[in-house]
Amino acid sequence: MESHVVPVANARVAVVTGGNKGIGLEVCRQLAGSGVTVVLTARDEARGAAAADELRATTGLSGVLFHQLDITDAPSVARLAGFLKTRFGKLDILVNNAAIGGVEYAHDPDYCSVTSTEKEKLSGMDRDRRLGWLWENCRETYDTAKEGLRTNYYGTKQVTQALLPLLQATDDGRIVNVSSDFGQLRELKRELNDIDSLTQERLDELLDMFLKDFEAGTVETRGWPMYFSAYKVAKAAMNAYSRILARDHPELRVNCVHPGYVKTDLTIHSGLLTVQEGGSRVAMVALLPASGPTGAFFEDFKESSFV
Ligand SMILES: NC(=O)c1ccc[n+]([C@@H]2O[C@H](COP(=O)([O-])OP(=O)(O)OC[C@H]3O[C@@H](n4cnc5c(N)ncnc54)[C@H](OP(=O)(O)O)[C@@H]3O)[C@@H](O)[C@H]2O)c1
Repeated sequence: MESHVVPVANARVAVVTGGNKGIGLEVCRQLAGSGVTVVLTARDEARGAAAADELRATTGLSGVLFHQLDITDAPSVARLAGFLKTRFGKLDILVNNAAIGGVEYAHDPDYCSVTSTEKEKLSGMDRDRRLGWLWENCRETYDTAKEGLRTNYYGTKQVTQALLPLLQATDDGRIVNVSSDFGQLRELKRELNDIDSLTQERLDELLDMFLKDFEAGTVETRGWPMYFSAYKVAKAAMNAYSRILARDHPELRVNCVHPGYVKTDLTIHSGLLTVQEGGSRVAMVALLPASGPTGAFFEDFKESSFV
């Protein structure tokens, strides 16, 4: 962690998880550009510190600092919470952006690894054909599915629970969960949509049921989503968790946002939007006016439906 960055007095403080690349890095850039002091976090110390250095150097924005955070690692989460408490005594904005695809990629998803022939092929495809291409280049196993839930749902929840007291220590604490239109599950619609009676324990039970069905090879027959199924189930659970938080914590603003189909490593750069376009959809929700909505799902800069 760097200590030389001096936050602007009275500036709002944001934490962005998975801030070293992709949409997360762009959200850091846009929030810092709006005068927010940004704690860019990353699981890899070297990659995260380098991203924060480069962001400061290319934008001249001094209010960006780095802190290590692996969202699946409880001691790492506790260290971040301790740092924020000592340094700022509060947190204004938490952007839960970090996630994985819950799949194995056929080759390194880095842009450079996609051949020019593949890039040319992709450029002539519409959204559905791009998604088909993406799926052909991925493989979902029990282990990748389990890791998908562990990171995308349980990791996000762990960070949120640990930082909740700091978000409650400010007037206008807000949580932005970077979700996906993939999380708008039709199959679990009724149960996940019944926010009045849904509990965090029931969400855990549903995820356990999903993993058992995945292991037994009964994902399709039991009505779970096909293709990127762990990613979809984890995002749907995160959406429901956001709504539970919004219900239980009216003092906070807790919202979800779909950044669009974006060209990042997660999609092997098959997306339709740039990181600037995806990041601005997330930053917009993080910077909504104080009286803005809570418990909402945003898509294309406007409120949309969870299901
Ligand atoms: N791209 C899209 O089309 C799209 C569409 C809908 C939703 N989203 C959502 O947008 C968000 C950002 O995705 P992206 O497309 O920008 O993907 P990305 O380029 O692959 O970035 C993912 C980020 O999450 C980090 N991460 C993964 N596991 C982590 C962990 N255990 N602890 C801390 N950080 C971790 C990665 O760190 P490393 O560099 O160390 O791996 C990386 O910084 C995700 O929530 C994703 O589900 C993306």
